[in-house]
Amino acid sequence: MSDQWRRLFLLLKILTIFIIFSISPSITTQTQTQTPHPEFPCKPPHHSSYTFCNTSLPISTRAQSLVSLLTLPQKIQQLCNNATSIPSLGIPAFEWWSESLHGIASNGPGVSFNGLIPSATSFPQVLLTAASFNRTLWFSIGSAIAVEARAMYNVGQAGLTFWAPNINIFRDPRWGRGQETPGEDPMVASAYAVEFVRGFQGENWRGGGNRRDGFGGKRVLKGDDGELMLSACCKHFTAYDLENWGNFSRYSFNAEVSEQDLEDTYQPPFRSCIQEGKASCLMCSYNQVNGVPSCARRDLFQKARIDWGFKGYIASDCDAVATIYEYQGYVKAPEDAVALVLKAGMDINCGTYLLRNTQQAIEQGKVQEEDIDRALFNLFSVQLRLRLFDGDPAKGLFGKLGPKDVCTKKHRTLALEAARQGIVLLKNDKKFLPLNKNCVASLAIIGPAANGTSRLGGGYTGVPCNPKSLFKGLQKYIQKTSYAAGCFDIPCSSDDGFHEAVQVAREADFVIVVAGLDLSQETEDLDRVSLFLPGKQMALISAVAMASKRPLVLVLTGGGPLDVSFAKEDPRIASILWIGYPGETGGKALAEVIFGEFNPGGRLPMTWYPESFTSVPMNDMSMRADPSLGYPGRTYRFYTGDMVYGFGHGLSYTNYTYKFISVPNKLSLLGSIKASFSNKTQWKRERLDYIHIDEVASCEELKFYAQISVMNNGDMDGSHVIMLFSRVPAMFRGAPQKQLIGFTRVHTVSYKAAETSILIDPCKHLSIVNESGTRLLPLGNHILMLEGLEHSFSIVI
Ligand SMILES: *[C@@H]1O[C@H](CO)[C@@H](O)[C@H](O)[C@H]1NC(C)=O
Ligand SMILES: *[C@@H]1O[C@H](CO)[C@@H](O)[C@H](O)[C@H]1NC(C)=O
Ligand SMILES: *[C@@H]1O[C@H](CO)[C@@H](O)[C@H](O)[C@H]1NC(C)=O
Ligand SMILES: *[C@@H]1O[C@H](CO)[C@@H](O)[C@H](O)[C@H]1NC(C)=O
Ligand SMILES: *[C@@H]1O[C@H](CO)[C@@H](O)[C@H](O)[C@H]1NC(C)=O
Ligand SMILES: *[C@@H]1O[C@H](CO)[C@@H](O)[C@H](O)[C@H]1NC(C)=O
Ligand SMILES: *[C@@H]1O[C@H](CO)[C@@H](O)[C@H](O)[C@H]1NC(C)=O
Ligand SMILES: *[C@@H]1O[C@H](CO)[C@@H](O)[C@H](O)[C@H]1NC(C)=O
Repeated sequence: MSDQWRRLFLLLKILTIFIIFSISPSITTQTQTQTPHPEFPCKPPHHSSYTFCNTSLPISTRAQSLVSLLTLPQKIQQLCNNATSIPSLGIPAFEWWSESLHGIASNGPGVSFNGLIPSATSFPQVLLTAASFNRTLWFSIGSAIAVEARAMYNVGQAGLTFWAPNINIFRDPRWGRGQETPGEDPMVASAYAVEFVRGFQGENWRGGGNRRDGFGGKRVLKGDDGELMLSACCKHFTAYDLENWGNFSRYSFNAEVSEQDLEDTYQPPFRSCIQEGKASCLMCSYNQVNGVPSCARRDLFQKARIDWGFKGYIASDCDAVATIYEYQGYVKAPEDAVALVLKAGMDINCGTYLLRNTQQAIEQGKVQEEDIDRALFNLFSVQLRLRLFDGDPAKGLFGKLGPKDVCTKKHRTLALEAARQGIVLLKNDKKFLPLNKNCVASLAIIGPAANGTSRLGGGYTGVPCNPKSLFKGLQKYIQKTSYAAGCFDIPCSSDDGFHEAVQVAREADFVIVVAGLDLSQETEDLDRVSLFLPGKQMALISAVAMASKRPLVLVLTGGGPLDVSFAKEDPRIASILWIGYPGETGGKALAEVIFGEFNPGGRLPMTWYPESFTSVPMNDMSMRADPSLGYPGRTYRFYTGDMVYGFGHGLSYTNYTYKFISVPNKLSLLGSIKASFSNKTQWKRERLDYIHIDEVASCEELKFYAQISVMNNGDMDGSHVIMLFSRVPAMFRGAPQKQLIGFTRVHTVSYKAAETSILIDPCKHLSIVNESGTRLLPLGNHILMLEGLEHSFSIVI
C-alpha cells in the first residue's frame, strides 16, 4: 500500500463515515448562522467588462475567451472538484461536487445543512420511486429537487452541479447500490433518466412549458444556448455495479462486457440520459471495461459526444484517476494516468490528483496545454449555461428562490405520493389487507426499523424536513399500538428481544412485522453475500407469527431483493409489502396502504432471486444464460432459474383484466428501406430473417400505437401500471425471453374500464442486438404480451 493509496483509502473511509453520519437525525440540531449569498463572477463594476461576461455573445465564444485569459497554473487549478478562485478575473472558487439522488444529500462538499436552510425534502430512495412506473412523478421529483437545490445555492449552501442520477443497471441482487438506481430494466432506467434529468435541469422553466407562477413567462430559460437551471450527471459510465465481491473491488474490477450486452443492456440508459434527457455531465466509473479504465475509454466518450450529441463535461468518480495508477497499476506513473484520461476526453477529476500531477505531465511532454484547454472549454461552457457568468444570481431567473421554497407542503406531498405509488404489495392471502381501522382493536408493531427515522432514506440522504417513523405513521390510525424491536438492530445477531416481541404480539389484535435491510447490509463499498434476511430476522418473524392471534403483515425495507420464500409460503404470514427506503413520509404512506386509503399499485423494478443465486459469480457481467456452464443469466430478460418474485410483480386491492383494442397485425417494411439497400433480389439472396436498423429509411414512419383497455374488477379505484412486453420470433439466438417495450400508469375507477395507448417504435422496441453489438429488426412474428394476453404481430418486407 503506497502512501498515496493509503491517503486515498483514508478519504474513502472518511466519506463512508460522512455518509453514515449524514443520515443520523442528530445532525439537525446545529447552530444556524446567516450565510452570505455566494460570490459570483462578472461582478460590476470591475469584473463585468470581460468578453466572457458579455451575455450577447454565444456560449462558445465566451468559454473560449475565458480559457485564453488563464495561465497554465490557473488552468490546472480548475481540474478538480474544488476549483480554485481566479482573483485577477474576479472569479470565485467553484465546488463541482454536490449530490441530489433523491433530495439534496449531505454527501459531497458542495452541500451544507448548516445555515438558513437546515433540511430539505427527503424523497424515497430511487428504486422505490421507480416502482411507481409513473413518468410524471419522476419528472416532478426532479423539478422539486431542483427548486430546493437552487434555493440552497442562493444562500450559499449548495452548488449548481449535481452528480445524479445513478442509472447503472441493477444487474446483481447483491449490489449495495442497486437501491440508488431505477432497477434492472434498460428501458425503465432510460425513461427514469430522461424524466429526472429534464425535471432537474429546468425543463419546467423553459419557454412554452407549464412555468411556475410568479415568473410570468418574462424570463425563461433559453433553449438555443442550452441554458440550464442546474446540471445533472449520468453516472457511472459504464458497466459499474459491483462494490466488492470475493477478491474484486470496484476500484480495480475489470468488467468484461460483450458488445452485445454493452449495446442492449449497459449503455441504453446513458444514451437516453444524454440524447433525450440532454444531461450536461457524464461521470466515468472506477472499474475497467474490457481491460481499459472507464475514464480512459476514449471510444465510448467519442461515441457519446458524436453519436449521442453529448454537450457537457465528463467528470471522474472520486479519485478514479488515482486508482488507475495506484490500485490498478494500469500505467507506470501518476503523470501517465493524468495523460491517459485527459487524452481520452475526461474533463475534470473528483479529487486532487490532476491538481497535483498535471504540471509534471506537461513538463514530461505527456499532456499538451490544448488537452487542458479542451477540458476547460467543456467545464466553462456548462458554467456559462448555468448563467454563472451572467451577473448577480439574485437578479436572475432563480434569484427569488430561498428558504421558503424548501420543505414546502407541495414537495413533502410529492414525497408522500412517491412512497404511496411505489409501495409494492407482494402477497395478500384472502384479501387480508386492507385492514379496516374500525375493526382493529389493537396493533403491535415489531422490528428495529419501525421505530426511528434514520433508516427511511437509504444511501445519499440529506437532512429530512420532518421525518416520521413507520411506528408513528401507523399509530395515527390505531390508538392502541404497541411496539417491540425484537432485534436490537438490522444485523440481528441476538434473540434476546424475541421474548418481548412475542409477548407484545400475543396481546395484540393485529401484528405488523417490519424486517429487511438498511445501510449496514447494502451501501456504497458494501455488497451483500446472502439474499436471506440478515441475522436472526427470519426466526423473529416465525416466532411472532406463531404467537399472534391472526396471520401477520410483513413489511420489508431496503433496496436489494430478499429471498423470503419462507414468508411467501407461510399461511401465518398473510400479506407482504415492500417499501424500499420510503423517505421521510414513508410512515404515512405505509399506513395509508395498510388501512386502505391508498390502493397499492407499485411493481417490482427488479427480479427477486432465491438464495441459490449467490453461487453465481458476481463478477460475471454476461446477461445471457449459458446452460452449458450452469450460468442462469440475469434479470427477467435472460434469467432462466426460479424466482421468489418476478420483475413487474405487484398486487392491488382490486384485480385487472386487459384487452387489446386496436393493434395492427402486420407491419410492412416495403418502401421503408433505404434506396441503397433496396435491391430486393440481392437482399433476399443474402438473408431473409432480419434487416439492419441502419437500412430503415425512417423509423419515425414505422411507429404505431397499441391501444389497450384495462378493466378494474374490484370495488376500489386504483392507479394501475400497464406493462407491455414483447418477444421476438423464436429463431433468434441470444434474444431476450421477453422485453418491456412500453409502460404507463393509469387511473382506474372501480368496475370501470380505462383506455390508454402505448407508442411503439419498432426500430427501438422490437429490435434486438446481435453478438457483435449490431441492432437488427427481426422479420416474422413478434408477440406482444399483456399479463397473460398475447397478440401476434408480424413484420414483413
Ligand atoms: C458584447 O458583444 C456584442 C456583440 O459582439 C457587442 O456588440 C457589444 O459591444 C459587447 N458588449 C460589451 C459591453 O463589450
Ligand atoms: C477548496 O479550496 C480552497 C482553496 O482553493 C480551500 O480553502 C478549501 O479548504 C478547499 N475546500 C475543500 C473542501 O477542500
Ligand atoms: C481470491 O484470491 C485467492 C488467492 O489468489 C484465491 O485463492 C481465491 O480463489 C480468490 N477468490 C475468488 C472469489 O476469486
Ligand atoms: C422509539 O425509540 C425512542 C428513542 O429510542 C424511544 O424513546 C421510544 O420509547 C421508542 N418507542 C417505542 C414505542 O418503543
Ligand atoms: C440487384 O442485384 C442482383 C444480384 O446482385 C443483380 O443481378 C441485379 O442486376 C440488381 N438489380 C439492380 C436493379 O441493380
Ligand atoms: C377480482 O375481484 C373481484 C371483486 O373483488 C372478485 O369477485 C373476482 O373473483 C376477482 N377475480 C380474480 C380473477 O381474482
Ligand atoms: C402520476 O404521478 C403524478 C404526480 O405525483 C400524479 O399526479 C398522478 O396521479 C400519477 N398518475 C397515476 C395514474 O397514478
Ligand atoms: C451482426 O450483424 C452484422 C450486420 O449484419 C454482421 O456484420 C455481423 O457479422 C453480425 N454478427 C454476428 C455475430 O452474427
